[in-house]
Amino acid sequence: MRTQVGIVGAGPAGLLLSHLLHLRGIDSVVLESRSREYCESRVRAGVLEQGTVDVLNDSGVGERMRREGLPHHGIELRYGGAGHRIAFEKLVPGRAITVYGQQEVVKDLIAARLAAGGKIIFDVPDVGLHDLTGSPYLTFQDQTLECDVIAGCDGFHGVSRPSIPEGVLSIFERDYPFAWLGVLARVRPSAEELIYARGDRGFALHSMRSPEISRFYLQVPPDEPLENWPDERIWAELKARLETVPGFTLATGPILEKGVTPMRSFVAEPMQYGRLYLAGDAAHIVPPTGAKGLNLAVADVRALTAALGHWYSTGETGPLDDYSRTCLRRVWRAQHFSWWMTTLLHPFESDDAYGGRLQTSYLDYVTSSEAAATTLAENYVGMPW
Ligand code: APR
Ligand code: PHB
Repeated sequence: MRTQVGIVGAGPAGLLLSHLLHLRGIDSVVLESRSREYCESRVRAGVLEQGTVDVLNDSGVGERMRREGLPHHGIELRYGGAGHRIAFEKLVPGRAITVYGQQEVVKDLIAARLAAGGKIIFDVPDVGLHDLTGSPYLTFQDQTLECDVIAGCDGFHGVSRPSIPEGVLSIFERDYPFAWLGVLARVRPSAEELIYARGDRGFALHSMRSPEISRFYLQVPPDEPLENWPDERIWAELKARLETVPGFTLATGPILEKGVTPMRSFVAEPMQYGRLYLAGDAAHIVPPTGAKGLNLAVADVRALTAALGHWYSTGETGPLDDYSRTCLRRVWRAQHFSWWMTTLLHPFESDDAYGGRLQTSYLDYVTSSEAAATTLAENYVGMPW
């Protein structure tokens, strides 16, 4: 088999890249280790930056997002017995976020690719990358896929980044002394907007997926076994951490899915080697507090599409040579923001009393100074491209 761009991974990065390349007449094949059902049912992120919404709309895959997505114009920071709204419409006029599950984006992209005759090969667990600095090719099962270039969109645990020889990559990482317990429940959201709550018992996030489905997260110890969290305990802890302002009552309902997500900051530089280009979680990971993971994947793919399009149409390799440098500026802005939101909102057991006072002071600053609130708002809705 032969294609122009061999793509490893059918998550948001791989699927969007295949779709955007197709719109430029560039052929690709996507190789995915898991099943289509797995990819379409994986409950992950849920907040789309304005730029991500624009890319999906402008490339013709935004119809269901426009119909079912929830535009949000603010978030609440809840601490010290009070709620403080960060009003996007005032601080960053004209920019907002859309709450729309990542698995919905994946479904829309898979449907669009298959409708356009796109090639996505699911259930191939043995993908290998070869001859990255010469004539690259992919192997899987008993087949060979020759490519002009390979896009490594296979996430943090994929095979692409490890295919880069020792000594080439510089790794930058930070671990956190806690994880998030994510919960999906069939219950109407108890607030119109997202609530980020910081309290002595720990952090909690109230989010949603639709008028009938809510999404929650609880800060838990880093290697917390899921069996420590029966549904009753989850609701009791969510109530304890969210019902901290007068008049707010958390509605409860059947829990549909729950899982523990580790918190990690990670960047591999450069995001390219020979004819291999890494995009999305294959190259970088952020703690989910700033809701940046999916949006960073979109930004990488937008840059890679433009660079590949330029190369195929002019033969010039400039933008491709600069791909990593182009992406890393935005990656590090999102890394900093995600780290900052995480340290601002999570009591660290390792923190001394002094650290706790710094957090409260910064929260007071962000919720009382328009300048400070604007820094949160402009990063949250997404810095301009
Ligand atoms: N071979 C083929 N496919 C693989 C391999 C492999 N060796 N390893 C992983 N994959 C697949 C996974 O099954 C998954 O479908 O690659 C895909 C990677 O998708 P994501 O992990 O979603 O990464 P990405 O597309 O970069 O999206 C990043 O989405 O998953 C969230 O938290 C993530 O918000 C972030 C964003
Ligand atoms: C989600 O709805 O899944 C979500 C929202 C905001 C975050 C993280 C996750 O910061």
